[in-house]
Amino acid sequence: MPRGWPGAGRGYSTYLQAPAEWRGTTVQVCGLWPFAAGTGSPMVGVPIGRNILSGATLCCDPINWFTRANLISNPSMFVLGRPGLGKSTVVRRMALGLAGYGVQPLVLGDLKPDYRDLIEALGGQVIRLGRGRGHLNVLDPGESRRAAQRLTGKAREAIQADAHGRRHTMVSALISIMRSVPPTDREETILDEALKVLDERSTGTPVLRDLLQVVQDAPDRVRNVALDRGSLDRYRQITEGLEASLIGLVGGGRLGEIFSAPTDNPMRLDRPVVFDVSSIDDSETSLQAAVLLACWSYGFGAVAVSQALADAGLEPRRHYFVILDELWRVLRAGRGLVDRVDALTRLNRQRGVGTAMISHTMSDLLALENAEDRMKAKGFVERSGMVVCGGLPRAEMENLTEVVPMSEEEQNMLIGWQDPPAWDPATGVEVAPPGRGNFLVKVGGRPGIPVHVSLTSVEREINDTNKLWRTDPVLELPPPDPATRVVARAGGDK
Ligand SMILES: Nc1ncnc2c1ncn2[C@@H]1O[C@H](COP(=O)(O)OP(=O)(O)O)[C@@H](O)[C@H]1O
Ligand SMILES: [Mg+2]
Repeated sequence: MPRGWPGAGRGYSTYLQAPAEWRGTTVQVCGLWPFAAGTGSPMVGVPIGRNILSGATLCCDPINWFTRANLISNPSMFVLGRPGLGKSTVVRRMALGLAGYGVQPLVLGDLKPDYRDLIEALGGQVIRLGRGRGHLNVLDPGESRRAAQRLTGKAREAIQADAHGRRHTMVSALISIMRSVPPTDREETILDEALKVLDERSTGTPVLRDLLQVVQDAPDRVRNVALDRGSLDRYRQITEGLEASLIGLVGGGRLGEIFSAPTDNPMRLDRPVVFDVSSIDDSETSLQAAVLLACWSYGFGAVAVSQALADAGLEPRRHYFVILDELWRVLRAGRGLVDRVDALTRLNRQRGVGTAMISHTMSDLLALENAEDRMKAKGFVERSGMVVCGGLPRAEMENLTEVVPMSEEEQNMLIGWQDPPAWDPATGVEVAPPGRGNFLVKVGGRPGIPVHVSLTSVEREINDTNKLWRTDPVLELPPPDPATRVVARAGGDK
């Protein structure tokens, strides 16, 4: 406790005072030996910002922390936090920094658009998808067909199996989203066989209409797995539901024709890529989910091909930072989708690929109807190498601490960061929320590192999500003339 007499002109002080801390470069502070000490914050990776408690610089990203710093067990991270507190912004910083390290950011679905300007500025590829704006054929094997021709033996089989699995998963996922329940086991088997028949039949790139045709044609192999017992009528009965769903997908229906026409802008593997899906309105939840899922499937498929070619020594090893933003939108779209996400976003080897998943809260993940889905969704967070948390409500803590151990102090910090912004009485404008840009970086059971992300001027320019508002013509109205106001109040033309 402090001792002495409190008040002006007196003395009231602690007995033992903490020494002031200063930061400097090793060139400057080496003369202060032995008083110099390193800080606790890791300095390996993309510079993120300053430690809120100590002011020390923090460098952090899942790829460098995995490969160079050995701080995490796999190159993945999960970002949680209330909307508007800067989750996309911190991931965008990592993408920009990693691009500097030679890693290519792949933004598999940008809903806002949060990342398009950055990828454009990096000279990357922007793929636009939406109603009447671009197609992504879910049956397109993409680069995998050409890659399979260049590979041999096990590697070829693996890449073909991967491509087949992805297409099957994607068609099932689209049907799940349409119906809000997954297809039955029998329908899955029929789809699987129909896809194999389709591959043998067609020489070009098949589309969903061709798959529908195979189911309608009732080839023997498909009839066998459908267990129609030799009766075509029975086959028609069994496949009626599936046929109806496929007709719905092909016909443009609720999910649009985005998935049923040939892909018009194939993804490149040698540069940063963003799928701009911002033209899809937030009210079209099913379509948003389906498009995101299709982008993830396509993107991960392409990464798997790139890895297989690099393993075989046919192409240089490329490194990717894959960003899956707004995860909750997909998980919510139907039962069983957690499994699909898991299947589509899993890579046999994480060599050269870092992933970032972004969602709002644990409750979003745990709000799923099905208990099994909830457990699996929780697994996404549990398995992440690091968890980065922004401001979160108190109600969230119980669920969160189950997965990420946190001290009382850390929990209070996160709760404090979600406080609403104040009004600025002078301008009448809402100021930035107090917790914007603040994050707690958690790795396993270690104490979290609280960090504030400050944007550079270049980033501020690129990140300006309020651009459209700022050019509002209303702002150009001339200021009111005080004289006219007086006249008006005096009641007229005298
Ligand atoms: N560290 C920061 N400093 C200043 N502004 C920020 C910072 N982080 C985010 N913002 C701004 O806050 C807004 C919301 O950020 P965003 O990253 O889209 O949030 P989220 O993805 O969590 O919803 C954007 O306008 C962004 O420019
Ligand atoms: Mg965001």
